[in-house]
Amino acid sequence: MSPVLRTTLTLAAVAAVCTTLVAATFLLTSERIAQNEQAFLESQLSPVIGSIRHDGGMLDNVTSIADGLPGRDPARLYRVLRDGLTVALLFEVTAMDGYAGPIRLLIGIRSDGVLTGVRTLAHEETPGLGDKIESARSDWILGFEGRAIGNPPAARWSIHADGGDFDQITGASVTSRAVVNAVSETLIYFSANRDALLTAPDSP
Ligand SMILES: Cc1cc2nc3c(=O)[nH]c(=O)nc-3n(C[C@H](O)[C@H](O)[C@H](O)COP(=O)(O)O)c2cc1C
Repeated sequence: MSPVLRTTLTLAAVAAVCTTLVAATFLLTSERIAQNEQAFLESQLSPVIGSIRHDGGMLDNVTSIADGLPGRDPARLYRVLRDGLTVALLFEVTAMDGYAGPIRLLIGIRSDGVLTGVRTLAHEETPGLGDKIESARSDWILGFEGRAIGNPPAARWSIHADGGDFDQITGASVTSRAVVNAVSETLIYFSANRDALLTAPDSP
């Protein structure tokens, strides 16, 4: 066998083994990763719902909304029910205009349009700056609770630097602006589609 052919076959064998290892690792870990993501999401749902009494089982009550909410992909909508009636909605949306990448948010809105809470699910913002949108790193994201359309008035639903009522995180105006805008757009969507959104498919 020529040296060139031997080297080629050796490289092909090494490539095949590596590819198999990568594929096997992916298969073995993908289910665990999905389970971890689900567990993280569940842990974030409660703080966003706030003190609202509910029946539980939000993760079984999820639909997707193709258009009209922040993000490139369809947004996810979790329905919070009490005695079968929708008392709040949780929107999983994505602000596409973060400083370093998309910012995935969970936004809770009570049936009367008041925000029950907002949490950051995933982001790529800079540690020490934009990552203060995580509730574990600062209280900034808690400032949305109790806000609604009209509180503040539409013209002031922006960060201070843009003439609005919301503090920006120091050194992270781009991040702060992206989150405030995504929350505002989600509230506007809720307001425009309130009746249809609150009518659960299985409502009495
Ligand atoms: C290394 C580095 C990382 C940065 N990370 C962020 C960030 O995560 N979020 C952000 O909004 N701005 C970040 N900035 C700052 C922005 O470039 C910008 O200056 C800042 O958002 C202030 O914007 P403003 O001038 O409109 O207030 C970073 C800057 C540098 C040099």
